[in-house]
Amino acid sequence: MRAIISGVGHYSPERKLTNKELEKMVDTNDEWITVRTGIKERAILDPEKGTSYMATRAAKMACDQAGVPPEEIELIILATITPDMMVPSAAAIVQKELGADHCWGYDLNGGCTGFIYALATGCQFIETGKYRNALLIGADKMSAIINYEDRNTCVIFGDAAGAVLLEPGADDARGIVDFDLHMDGVGVEYLNVLGGGSRHPATMDTVKKKMHYVYQDGKTVFKYAVKGMSTVSETLLRRNGLTGRDLDHLVPHQANFRIIDAVGKKLGLTPEQIVVNIEKYGNTTAATIPLAMSEAHQEHRFKKDDWILLTAFGAGFTWGSVLLKWAI
Ligand code: COA
Repeated sequence: MRAIISGVGHYSPERKLTNKELEKMVDTNDEWITVRTGIKERAILDPEKGTSYMATRAAKMACDQAGVPPEEIELIILATITPDMMVPSAAAIVQKELGADHCWGYDLNGGCTGFIYALATGCQFIETGKYRNALLIGADKMSAIINYEDRNTCVIFGDAAGAVLLEPGADDARGIVDFDLHMDGVGVEYLNVLGGGSRHPATMDTVKKKMHYVYQDGKTVFKYAVKGMSTVSETLLRRNGLTGRDLDHLVPHQANFRIIDAVGKKLGLTPEQIVVNIEKYGNTTAATIPLAMSEAHQEHRFKKDDWILLTAFGAGFTWGSVLLKWAI
């Protein structure tokens, strides 16, 4: 028996931060950001709210769409690198806010690959027959860990949440077909937030050194991301007797339009096959893929039985792809 996606949802804060506004904050300009990244604006959550606020709203939309009331949810996996607080998990806050009174759950830190890891993990609980559903959320309030004086990072990231509900399919015709996941700690030095963990607990000194903000070596991450996402996607397609031509949609992690374009070309895809919304949201880390899926579904872009490939790359490094047949 396969696990199917029976509902999708997303949440994007109302407040938009445009390239024009960023021009007044750092030494950058709309043309550079548009040409180098494809991003025009990103959404920013109210400072006093946490990631769970967005996650709860995306989750509610997915549950409503699937017709499953929160009290029937059995498992919540929340992929995030920006939990509301160090302890407890943001998943526990979402459980309470949703009123999902009969479940367990946890946060999962897979960087920008977090949602792919969550999907691969969640479908195991369904396929074994142990659970009747699993709520998988990707949500990040990146504005909480971005230095708005650093033009290398502040133009890229935004805040959002996306969610899917997994349930057992009636047969093997649709659902999660296969996945391939990877990790390589070589990436620790190229993409990190050094402060606030057990190695560098928060002190006046770590704050002064801005160690609680995202650091990335953009050029190196870019190269690893193109190679990681295209290689894992090719492997997954080949293993399932498919080529790029058989795919109805590629939903890639939205980190940089040039990365998406390069991966699409390596897989031999046309632009019509690739779901892109980076211009409106930027890189929302664990949220990009469920957010793009939810929007595409809302726009009636996905049809029942479509072949869909999801692929992501992120901090760790982590990377992976999921192959599925759309079921709703
Ligand atoms: N505005 C204007 N100029 C900028 C700029 C900005 N926001 N950021 C960097 N620059 C400048 C650089 O200083 C550099 O100037 P120089 O040539 O005088 O030294 C020039 O633009 C090119 O910088 P570079 O870093 O080579 O640009 P890039 O083409 O690699 O683009 C990123 C930078 C960050 C957009 C790109 O590397 C990227 O997207 N990397 C992957 C990010 C990612 O995926 N991260 C999340 C993990 S999934």
